[in-house]
Amino acid sequence: GKPAAPGVNAAGGSLERVRADPEGQPLTTNQGVRVSDNQNSLKAGLRGAALLKDFVLREKITHFDHERIPERVVHARGSGAHGYFECYEPLSSLTQASLFAEAGKITPVFVRFSTVAGERGSKDTARDVRGFAVKFYTDEGNWDLVGNNMPVFFIQDAMKFPDLVHAVKPEPHHAMPQAASAHDTYWDFVSLMPESTHMLMWQMSDRAIPRSFRMMQGFGVHTFRFVNAQGESTFVKFHWNPKLGTHSLVWDEAVKISGADPDYNRRDLWEAIESGAYPEWELCVQAFTEEQAEAFSFDVLDATKIVPEELVPLQPVGRMVLNRNPDNFFAETEQVAFCAAHVVPGIDFTNDPLLAGRIHSYVDTQITRLGGPNFHELPINAPLAPVQNNQRDGMHRQAIHRGRSSYEPNSLGGGCPHQAGTQGFVSFPEPIHADEVRGKPEKFAEHYNQAALFYNSQTEAEQRHIAAAFRFELSKVTVPAVRRRVVSMLRNASEELAAEVAQGLGMELPEAMPRALAKTPKPEVEVSPALSLTA
Ligand code: HEM
Repeated sequence: GKPAAPGVNAAGGSLERVRADPEGQPLTTNQGVRVSDNQNSLKAGLRGAALLKDFVLREKITHFDHERIPERVVHARGSGAHGYFECYEPLSSLTQASLFAEAGKITPVFVRFSTVAGERGSKDTARDVRGFAVKFYTDEGNWDLVGNNMPVFFIQDAMKFPDLVHAVKPEPHHAMPQAASAHDTYWDFVSLMPESTHMLMWQMSDRAIPRSFRMMQGFGVHTFRFVNAQGESTFVKFHWNPKLGTHSLVWDEAVKISGADPDYNRRDLWEAIESGAYPEWELCVQAFTEEQAEAFSFDVLDATKIVPEELVPLQPVGRMVLNRNPDNFFAETEQVAFCAAHVVPGIDFTNDPLLAGRIHSYVDTQITRLGGPNFHELPINAPLAPVQNNQRDGMHRQAIHRGRSSYEPNSLGGGCPHQAGTQGFVSFPEPIHADEVRGKPEKFAEHYNQAALFYNSQTEAEQRHIAAAFRFELSKVTVPAVRRRVVSMLRNASEELAAEVAQGLGMELPEAMPRALAKTPKPEVEVSPALSLTA
């Protein structure tokens, strides 16, 4: 491949300003006062009491006392890297997003891979979903594509996310088990939530134990919109395909590695980048019209469904290379704040009800995790595009705003920026004619076709791995009724799998779970022509 673009990987140079390297310099306090002795506290005599006026000791200890911040409420364990995105061809017919404007255009990125359920210090090789979050520092603001390594999700509506996570996390009385998918509460919840069947197939498959972050696909999961300069919108799904191919561990390897090297995936990513073996992914899109979407048997607003590639082919639009390790884990990987609401002109949301919750959740949680509303000023989060608005103050403000005013409308001037009109982000004007309701559209009620599609797409060996995973995880479940419910759900996706799991657990095959839809829509097989990406 091409040589890695040098110099574009430090968030466009904005991090250069704050990179500290005091090797060999005199040690100082935080006030810049040189410290004479960093080994001994100030005492009233060599065997006497320590003195309160020892501001050097007190500052050192006080700062240490506050070193920890809350870990992420989910995705606490992660590993990051810098790199760049390179656009293949202008996508102007579909999107005005500036990162897709020219062939060869380079946009700096920071990426964080993560597990979902484990704590910050948990093992890398747990059976779990992996986060795949990309921050594009585009010249028109930051775009965060906060995805996973599986293309679907457990639930269809954000209303259930806190319940899902409470069921997945260790049980509240004794804080066990750390293994998300091996306990009563988890299987209880998913067995009462048949919409999770498709995701369970992925989670019990080898996809849930990736060999390397470098060998993992990424997915935006939701249907998003591209919007072009004429204001026309196209639905889009995002896929990252690793140049090294998609590879997994097998369960026995994962179990052994968990003990021998809990940092297995983190170490692999770090060492590959240190040695110049820069990992690379191709960004592909599935672009389709609203009319096409209406004809699908599933709803494209339902995050438990993929758009099969037989219906809409993947089209490569660019590549991403990770070519620099962070200088400091805390400052970069821990303090980075991704948010599903961070979009740029040319990219917009759909009404996926899961996405709606995410648009709210990220900045909200980060206000707690990162201590106030100004974490967008942290170097790793700061956009390369200029930030100028009338938001003021708050804990730990860095910017020193000049002038007398911070309001609009404003006839006095004095430091105010002005709204950009059509030059700014304009939300896609989707027509709305609706009653306020809770509930879901009819197509959201079919839960098994794509679970079957996934299981049937696996090789024989992979299918045996899925069955073994269900058996192992369910063998940890102590409530027979919960096991029965899971197997009864599986019968709707694969009789073969359900039978194998039941047999492994030494139980009778239960009745199949009643389907929410009496007659399930037939999945399509027709191939639609690819939409033209370029003008
Ligand atoms: C992290 C909420 C669904 C991918 C997080 C965090 C929260 C959250 C609160 C921690 C953020 C932080 O402290 O910085 C939610 C909610 C969801 C949801 C409310 C559904 C309603 C999803 C889905 C995906 C996803 C569907 C994948 C498409 C991620 C990733 C991270 C994350 C990758 C880690 C980001 C990082 O590396 O810092 N989510 N999430 N989440 N979420 Fe979600």
